Amino acid sequence: MGEWIIEPATVEALPDILHIEEACFSAPWTRKMLEAELSGNPFAHFLLAKQVLPGEAGSVSIVGYLCFWVVFEEVRLMNLAVIETMRHKGIARALVMQALEIGLAQAARCAVLELRASNHAAHALYQSLGFRDVTTRPTYYTNPIEDALLMELDPIVSESGRLTQEVGREGGHIRPLQ
Ligand SMILES: CC(C)(COP(=O)(O)OP(=O)(O)OC[C@H]1O[C@@H](n2cnc3c(N)ncnc32)[C@H](O)[C@@H]1OP(=O)(O)O)[C@@H](O)C(=O)NCCC(=O)NCCS
Repeated sequence: MGEWIIEPATVEALPDILHIEEACFSAPWTRKMLEAELSGNPFAHFLLAKQVLPGEAGSVSIVGYLCFWVVFEEVRLMNLAVIETMRHKGIARALVMQALEIGLAQAARCAVLELRASNHAAHALYQSLGFRDVTTRPTYYTNPIEDALLMELDPIVSESGRLTQEVGREGGHIRPLQ
C-alpha cells in the first residue's frame, strides 16, 4: 500500500482535510474552524500525512492530519484523524511524535489533550505514547453528549532525554520540517 510521509499543511489542503474530518467525526469541525487553524491562529500547527501513490512520480493523497497548538510550555493536541483504509500503520503515532518534537524545539515541556470517553482507539494510542489520564469533564461533547477525558504527558522528554518512543514504522517516512 506504499509509503507515506508527513509534511506541514497549507491552506490548499482544506477541501481534503474537511472531507476526512466529516468522515471521521460525529461532530466535525467546520470549514471555517479548519481554515482558522490553517491560516489565522499564530499558535496553531497543522501536519498532514500523505500516501505516496505508486506510478506517477510525486503523486500523493492526504490520508490523515494533526492540528496542534504550542502555547508557551504546553503542546495542545487539538484534532487528529487518519482515514479508515490507512489505519493501524503507525501514522497517528508518527503525527503525534512529530508534534511533540516541534513542541520540544519551541521549549514546550508538557502535552495535553481531550478525547471522548468512548474513544478506545485514541486512548490506547495516547497511552502507548506515555500520556496518562488526568480527569474527566462531564458532558463536554455534544452529538452525542459525552464526557471528555483529559490526558497529559509531563514531561514530554523521558529521563534519558529522548522521547518515550521512536518515531516511524516500516513504510513510513518523516520528512524534516522547516
Ligand atoms: C485514533 C486514530 C487517529 C488512530 O490512527 P492510526 O493511524 O490507526 O493509529 P496508529 O496506527 O498510529 O496506532 C498507534 C497505536 O494506537 C493504538 N490503537 C490505534 N488504533 C487502535 C484501535 N482501533 N484499537 C486499539 N488500539 C488502537 C495502538 O496502541 C497502536 O499501536 P500498535 O499498532 O502498535 O498496537 C484513528 O483511529 C482515527 O482517525 N479515528 C477517528 C478519529 C479519532 O478518533 N481521532 C482522535 C480524536 S482524540
